[in-house]
Amino acid sequence: MAEKNKFYITTPIYYVNASPHIGHSYTNIAADTLARHMRRVLGKENTWFLTGTDEHGQKIERAAEKQGLTPGQFVDRVVVQFRDLWDKLNISYNDFIRTTEDRHIKTVQRSLEILYKNGDIYEGKYEGWYCTPDETFWLESQAPDKLCPDCRRPLEEIKEINYFLNLQKYQSWLIEYIKNNPLFIRPENRRNEILSFLTLNKLSPLCISRPKERLSWGIPLSFSASHVTYVWFDALINYISAVGEFDANDKYHSRWWGEDSRVVHLIGKDILRHHAVYWPIMLKALGIRMPDTIFAHGWWMLGEGKMSKSRGNVVNPLDMVDKYGIDTYRYFLLREVPFGLDGNFSEDSIIKRFNADLANDLGNLIYRTLNMVEKYFQGKIPQHDIFSRRYDAAGEEIKNILDFPASQRASFSRDINSSLSAESDFNFSLAFESIWRRISMANKYIEESKPWNLAKENKIDELSAFLGLMIEVISQVGRQIESFMPYTADLIKEQLGEKEIKKGKPLFPRIENKETDT
Ligand code: MSP
Repeated sequence: MAEKNKFYITTPIYYVNASPHIGHSYTNIAADTLARHMRRVLGKENTWFLTGTDEHGQKIERAAEKQGLTPGQFVDRVVVQFRDLWDKLNISYNDFIRTTEDRHIKTVQRSLEILYKNGDIYEGKYEGWYCTPDETFWLESQAPDKLCPDCRRPLEEIKEINYFLNLQKYQSWLIEYIKNNPLFIRPENRRNEILSFLTLNKLSPLCISRPKERLSWGIPLSFSASHVTYVWFDALINYISAVGEFDANDKYHSRWWGEDSRVVHLIGKDILRHHAVYWPIMLKALGIRMPDTIFAHGWWMLGEGKMSKSRGNVVNPLDMVDKYGIDTYRYFLLREVPFGLDGNFSEDSIIKRFNADLANDLGNLIYRTLNMVEKYFQGKIPQHDIFSRRYDAAGEEIKNILDFPASQRASFSRDINSSLSAESDFNFSLAFESIWRRISMANKYIEESKPWNLAKENKIDELSAFLGLMIEVISQVGRQIESFMPYTADLIKEQLGEKEIKKGKPLFPRIENKETDT
């Protein structure tokens, strides 16, 4: 197998029927962190990060109608909110795909034609029940009360001619593929969930069209003048339409989807079945290789329920960022719950995390170290070859967990690298734990060695070696948090300076909160 020296990461493309909320920002912050990390491991030119917006379908048509706009006018307005939020959150995407773009429409139509030509898509009659807000079909047996099993809203009865993708033809292939590729669907509980769904149910054909009379806001089918494409078929194709093309022989080519590229889809668990069943079968039928990993993360809940537009309990990410800062927000989402599990969102827990980890641990380490450099060395950073110098036992222990200097970089943060791999389920919070272990050790070392006594006793050489070590810890921590908290990493670099520190305000001044401080 070719060595994977490229990395292609995607997020779901978000519906533009309402403003972005915390759930959307979660996936993008996680994907951004992995993209930044992989750019350092593989190089910028070998990493590609795609996000975008899902702009067709009934939900959007209806939302536009409500505002008295055409769907086109409506999506052009809402998409700006997504782009602005990503800029604000430092989301370093390489490409932003909109499903209303020509490059996408062309690839969707071409994919449908190939599948139709090969007999994977065929005309048929549809009778069943449809949840319009969720754009999902249900069989009578799945929804005996005529309410959507997912959202509990009333279903509409539907009878019409449509086009169908034969999923069953690929069912046993898919089961085998998932069994043989343990990293294909992650985490493990989601993999098992899909495997048991596939082994216990016979897959029904997937209806991939909608009659125009019912929905006009979609991509026209080239082989039927009276249909547009089902929005989920349209949406999933974004992952390939953004990065490649079919040639005259129906073969797909892409710099980012070759054998030498690791393809990772990050999604929320709500859209796992679309990604782990429909998408692989679409790709297989199109003769395109599988992505390497489809990772479904958990939900952010607010109180009892999932945060979602339809439940009306969304928190606006911009408000959180204005209140607590970009990197506090990024840190909280990635640190608070292991990636893959559900989490409870509350401002109290943000404040607790902030005060403990950012103000007390990281902020304090930097602030008091820089204070001492200022006080005892007039701001000049003590120059020591700390890696060849001998320290006391605690100092040696700290030295041991530091990355070696430039010449021996090979071992660069092995624990962080491995925490962020697919094998470890992109465990951001574990990566943070290992960084914070360094911070805690350094803080403890300061408390135990009482460097201010060295100053009093005029042991200048020892004091400068001590502070040299602390500066090295801070500068390494700064580099290690770069992918997670890029803005803070820049501030640390700035404050440390080259030879002389530039101490600014504390990076994370404690937040006083009566409720959490009791
Ligand atoms: N347009 C489809 C996705 C098509 S991908 C080919 C869609 N869009 S969505 O706007 O509803 O966003 C879905 C994604 O947003 C989820 O999969 C997840 O990534 C994120 N989240 C939305 N609400 C969420 C939470 N409450 N918690 C965490 N993430 C969730 O579905």
